[in-house]
Amino acid sequence: MWLMATLPRVPSLLVSVTSVSECRKCSSLKSSIALPEPSNYFSVSLSCISSSLKAKKSKRFGNSLSVSAAMADLATVLVTGAGGRTGQIVYKKLKERSGQYVARGLVRTDESKEKLGGADDLYVGDIRDANSIAPAIQGIDALIILTSAVPKMKTGFDPTQGGRPEFYFDEGAYPEQVDWIGQKIQIDAAKAAGVKQIVLIGSMGGTDPNHPLNSLGNGNILIWKRKAEQYLADSGVPYTIIRAGGLQDKEGGARELLVGKDDELLKTETRTVTRADVAEVCIQALQFEEAKFKAFDLASKPEGAGTPTKDFKALFSQINTRF
Ligand SMILES: NC(=O)c1ccc[n+]([C@@H]2O[C@H](COP(=O)([O-])OP(=O)(O)OC[C@H]3O[C@@H](n4cnc5c(N)ncnc54)[C@H](OP(=O)(O)O)[C@@H]3O)[C@@H](O)[C@H]2O)c1
Repeated sequence: MWLMATLPRVPSLLVSVTSVSECRKCSSLKSSIALPEPSNYFSVSLSCISSSLKAKKSKRFGNSLSVSAAMADLATVLVTGAGGRTGQIVYKKLKERSGQYVARGLVRTDESKEKLGGADDLYVGDIRDANSIAPAIQGIDALIILTSAVPKMKTGFDPTQGGRPEFYFDEGAYPEQVDWIGQKIQIDAAKAAGVKQIVLIGSMGGTDPNHPLNSLGNGNILIWKRKAEQYLADSGVPYTIIRAGGLQDKEGGARELLVGKDDELLKTETRTVTRADVAEVCIQALQFEEAKFKAFDLASKPEGAGTPTKDFKALFSQINTRF
C-alpha cells in the first residue's frame, strides 16, 4: 500500500508502508513505513495511525491515502552565503543528510544558484533587504549564517615590485552593511519566524580593535562582525557563534579540532582550520544541546599531529563561554 503523507515542513512524499499491524491500545492500524530518499531509504516506526499520527483518510488517489503524519522530525535548515566557499560545503552536506535535514540555501545571484545546481531549495536574495530573504526564511527550523563582506584587491598591484596589495569594498557592501546590518536583518527575520537555533560564523581576532584586518579597505570588518555576534547573543534565540581561525581549502575530518576563547589560540601555532571542518562543526552544532548559547574560537592541529575529531558532543562540552 502507498500513503501520501504530509510531513512537517517537508513537501508531500510518497511513503511505502512496509508492515501493518494492530495497535494494542486502541485496536487501530499500526504501521512501519519507508520514506523514499534520493540515496537511501530509512524506516520510521509509527505507533498508531489513528492516534499517534492522526491519520486522516481524507482522500484517495487510486490506491493512495492522504495522511497528516508527524513522524519524521526533519529540520529545515537554511544556510546563507550558500554560494560562498564554506557556505557551499554546508549546503552540500545538508543535502547529503536528507534523512535528517531539509536543506535550503540563500545565494545572492542567479549565477550562484546555477553554479550550485539550480535546485528549488536555492533562494536568491540580498541580506541587506529583509523582503528579499523572507521566502527563504519562512518555515525554517535553523539558520546557519555564512555571509560576509568580501574585500576586493585594487588593480595594479605587482608582487614583483614588493609592497602590499590594497583592498576596497564596493559601495554599499562594506562590512557595516553586510556583516552588521545584513546579519542583523537575518537574525531578526529568523527570530520572527520562530527558529530554534542560529549558527553564526565569525572570525578570530575580534578582541583586538587594532587587528590588521580592520584596516583592510577601511572596513573595520572584525568590529562589525563582533557587533552582530553580540546582537545574536542578546537575541534570546539559542545560538552558536563559531569564530574561525584562518580558513584553508583542504579536506575535512582529518584534523583534531581545537576550541578556545578570547583569541587565545591566535597566540599559538594552531590558528587555522579547514572550511570543510568549519562546515561540519556548523551542522554538528545543530545536533547537541552542548553547542547552544555558546561562542568559541575554532582552529585545528595540523594533519597527523593529533586524533581527528569525531566526538562533537565532547568538543562542544569543552566550551563554557557564552560570548
Ligand atoms: N578567510 C578567512 O581566512 C576567514 C577566517 C576566519 C573567518 N572567516 C569568515 O568565515 C566565513 C566564511 O568565509 P568564506 O571565505 O567561506 O566566505 P566567502 O567565500 O567570502 O562567502 C561569503 C558569501 O557571502 C555572500 N554575500 C556577501 N554579501 C551578501 C549579500 N549582501 N547578500 C547575500 N549574500 C551575500 C557572498 O555572495 P556572492 O557569492 O554573491 O559574493 C558569498 O557567497 C565568513 O564570515 C568569513 O568572514 C574567514
